[in-house]
Amino acid sequence: MRIAVIPGDGIGGEVVPAVLPALELLGDHFGLGLSYRIFDWGAERWLAERVGLPPDALDLLASDYPAILLGALGDPRIPDMAHGRDILLGLRRGLDLYVNYRPFTPRGGDRTIALFRENTQGLYAGVGGTVSHGRHPAVAIDECVYTRETVEKFLRYCLRTLSESGRERVTLVHKSNAVPHTGRLWQGVFRAELAGFPGLVGSEEYVDSFCYHLVRDPSPYEGIVASNLFGDIVSDIGAALMGGLGLAASASVCPETGCALFEPVHGSAPDIAGRGIANPYAAATAVALMLDHLGHPRAAAPLRRALAAAARTDSATPDLGGHGTTGTFMADVMKRLEKD
Ligand code: NAI
Ligand code: MG
Repeated sequence: MRIAVIPGDGIGGEVVPAVLPALELLGDHFGLGLSYRIFDWGAERWLAERVGLPPDALDLLASDYPAILLGALGDPRIPDMAHGRDILLGLRRGLDLYVNYRPFTPRGGDRTIALFRENTQGLYAGVGGTVSHGRHPAVAIDECVYTRETVEKFLRYCLRTLSESGRERVTLVHKSNAVPHTGRLWQGVFRAELAGFPGLVGSEEYVDSFCYHLVRDPSPYEGIVASNLFGDIVSDIGAALMGGLGLAASASVCPETGCALFEPVHGSAPDIAGRGIANPYAAATAVALMLDHLGHPRAAAPLRRALAAAARTDSATPDLGGHGTTGTFMADVMKRLEKD
């Protein structure tokens, strides 16, 4: 199984190389036959050559690399994030990775809430423009675009996955009172698709009131499904409930082709880049999600155990209250993996 590795910018270039030895060790130990190739797509290449996602990249990934591990994109020298959109949105749309799965385990609990975000349409559809008077835009428009086909296949996949994981409750996050056209499309499809899953009880919440309830008490929630922007925002609340951005990871999947991209939820963190203190927990969790997806949950389990145990010690990075570095934390994780 070949894996494409894109460390990217800032701390992406620190946490991704730090977690690769764990992937290698687990691959060898469980005989998974994994190999990987590193791609240099990111800010440096963009600034030097104006190349974001190279022209042949999508074909190459689609044919040879069923799994992609990405660090983060973002560089203060490219304030409009042109390269990031080219690469990340290019991968999501080009490989039709329309399901974004972002599990989070609220601190103090042991139950993982499964959050699914639609990943290709909605307010990220790239439809819109500006009308300028003189030098300044007078009107700016970003359209929220959803097709029934995408909402249907997205919700059907989410409900099937939730049901197979033994979860019984699923909440649709929407705002159909104020954003009625796409909101009602989502509600209609959600109710229709739920009928095919008698074991699942559905509820619907407005995104604002949902955020309020989630922060106050996440315990009633088991599965959450949301459109692109709402899912993006809610997932950062999920990361906060876990204990920080350095912990959360996501998988972007095309269920039809099986192609998938795994990444930490955090960005390139220019404020701490180059200091060796970035928390590699989220990137390692992205590796665990990848192992699950490739059909090797037995290899993902010891990694999750080692991460959780190491995070409780002083080798944890400063964002978790420890005195460790990216390197000492992963050294601790590797020691535990070798013993496990
Ligand atoms: P960020 O996630 O990079 O950082 C937010 C805060 O969390 C910072 O204080 C940072 O130091 C801290 N943090 C994040 N990850 C951490 C880790 N692993 N260990 C310890 N502390 C960590 O978000 P920010 O600052 O808004 O964005 C920075 C750049 O990253 C921007 O260019 C942004 O566009 C980009 N970005 C890229 C994403 C991606 O590639 N998927 C996602 C989010 C932002
Ligand atoms: Mg986000």
